[in-house]
Amino acid sequence: MRVLGIETSCDETGVAIYDDQQGLLANHIYSQVRLHAYYGGVVPELASRDHVRKTVPLIQAALSEAGLQAKDIDGVAYTAGPGLVSALMVGATVGSALAYAWRVPDIAVHHMEGHLLAPMLEANPPAFPFVALLVSGAHTQLIAVTGIGKYQLLGESIDDAAGEAFDKIAKLLGLNYPGGPLLSRIAQQGVAGRYIFPRPMTDRPGLNFSFSGLKTFAANTINAVARDAQTHADVARAFEDAVVDTLAIKCSRALDQTGLRRLVIAGGVSANQTLRTRIKEIIEQRGDKVFYPRPELCTDNGAMIAYVGMIRLPSCVKSQLTVTVRPRWSLEELTAVVT
Ligand code: KG4
Ligand code: ZN
Repeated sequence: MRVLGIETSCDETGVAIYDDQQGLLANHIYSQVRLHAYYGGVVPELASRDHVRKTVPLIQAALSEAGLQAKDIDGVAYTAGPGLVSALMVGATVGSALAYAWRVPDIAVHHMEGHLLAPMLEANPPAFPFVALLVSGAHTQLIAVTGIGKYQLLGESIDDAAGEAFDKIAKLLGLNYPGGPLLSRIAQQGVAGRYIFPRPMTDRPGLNFSFSGLKTFAANTINAVARDAQTHADVARAFEDAVVDTLAIKCSRALDQTGLRRLVIAGGVSANQTLRTRIKEIIEQRGDKVFYPRPELCTDNGAMIAYVGMIRLPSCVKSQLTVTVRPRWSLEELTAVVT
């Protein structure tokens, strides 16, 4: 069985084909970063127009790379939410229409379930149950995962998401959008400990996060210090260290609270190398295990959508051409899948 997956929830057009025997057969991504960089953030209308331009050519490229034709596809999965409504509509409309024309089911996929299950595409996937930390541009969530579709929210950010905080501080440091990866790059040259930023909400019980105070602290520091490259690198380092420490403390706490011994970290920010190394050390010191997708499957991609599509295909019916997207959508609303 093969599922075509389409991701258009934000500023990346992703298309992939997943085969339940052979794994990923194709995985194509087109990033709109250059389109939005001029504006310093994603412009939804430009994003959706660009998805319109890129989605069908990427599907053709994926089919041709995999050496497949329409008749070889058993289901079409698309990201139905959460995300930007006009961007979601593109993948949903194309996905539904193709599934209708090909007389196969269409599968409306939750973007965060895609991130959460992305480590299943790796050679050593985690077994259930586990704790998942989802860190993306719009979400910072800790989830107890007891099976596919069995998600209990343990904690989340009460204000900015971790990725959003990375992008905002990067902007103040004069870096282009999306600044997360660029901030991380200059942080490598930074001197640890020259500046020390707070680890928000770690001094009180609970599993929620807050990054807006840290963001203000970093912004005030940037305004008060010299504007040379080394100082900026030191600030970037202090900011990255504070975010990574905060996430690590909350992950350890979530493992303690649930008694679980496996941790999955996914979503765009989990591509961050400092985060990957440091949290791995901390979790392994506890005798627990951490699982990350490879970096290109941490950021938005079609592969994770095709994978979830395959898992959910048995419960889906032939496309009726009814397109529904959900810009806001809780993971806890998903139905469980018996595997
Ligand atoms: O999951 P994702 O690709 O899109 C959303 O679902 O939001 O996450 C994008 C976020 C952006 O905020 C981006 O700056 C951040 O992930 N990000 C990083 C890194 N790579 C991507 N943040 C820090 N370090 C990175 N290496
Ligand atoms: Zn995402």
